[in-house]
Amino acid sequence: MNPLNHVAIIMDGNGRWGLKNKNSRNAGHKAGLNTVEKVIKETIKNKIKFLTLYAFSTENWKRPKKEVNFLFNLLENFLKSRIDDLNKKKIKLKIIGVKNFSKNLNNLLNASEKKTVKNKKLQINLALNYGSKFELLNAFKELKKNRKTINEKNIEKYLQTTNIPDPDLLIRTGNTKRLSNFLLWQLAYSEIFFEKKLWPDFTEKDYNKIIKKFKNTKRNYGRI
Ligand code: FPP
Repeated sequence: MNPLNHVAIIMDGNGRWGLKNKNSRNAGHKAGLNTVEKVIKETIKNKIKFLTLYAFSTENWKRPKKEVNFLFNLLENFLKSRIDDLNKKKIKLKIIGVKNFSKNLNNLLNASEKKTVKNKKLQINLALNYGSKFELLNAFKELKKNRKTINEKNIEKYLQTTNIPDPDLLIRTGNTKRLSNFLLWQLAYSEIFFEKKLWPDFTEKDYNKIIKKFKNTKRNYGRI
């Protein structure tokens, strides 16, 4: 059975769920947050050490301002109300992406990271204002600036995910088969599962079914 250390998730389908069920895309984001809570619980139950969630991409700024504001308010309320409990559960929060939000939100994100930095049960990497091409370009620029040799080890040192093992498993919900500028370097050998269900409809049972399938998949890494 394959060990499972790191799950990455593209939580897609909130908007469609919201429109279909509540006539509002934002209602879908709100419902999506419940799935986030369920998946965190199940990740701990499965003794998985890293969970990376794609919450906001560099391309998501192109959405209407009202939706962008709603998403960041949701995030702010989530952190304010849940960070103490996450901390009690020994969860470490790390933001990957560029933290160039409002001063308030930046402070809240930094404080949440600081508060949980020593926790070892589960590390949640929240991808916010994250884009993989930008991350790679930035790494190459840093290598050049610091006159470092271009090799895998040095590139990884300058990625936002430095010291985080590559995902073993990527799940994308929402019945769409693309990577959307997410962890393009880090997913080189990950097993990818595309799930038809929209993110708010994704259940513990669906998650465990994928985990079970993953564990029984033969991973070759180029060998036979
Ligand atoms: C993609 O669905 C989802 C997002 C861009 C936001 C993800 C946010 C959440 C799950 C809730 C907030 C999370 C935290 C951690 C506070 P979409 O809107 O692209 O769906 P669509 O493809 O149906 O339009």
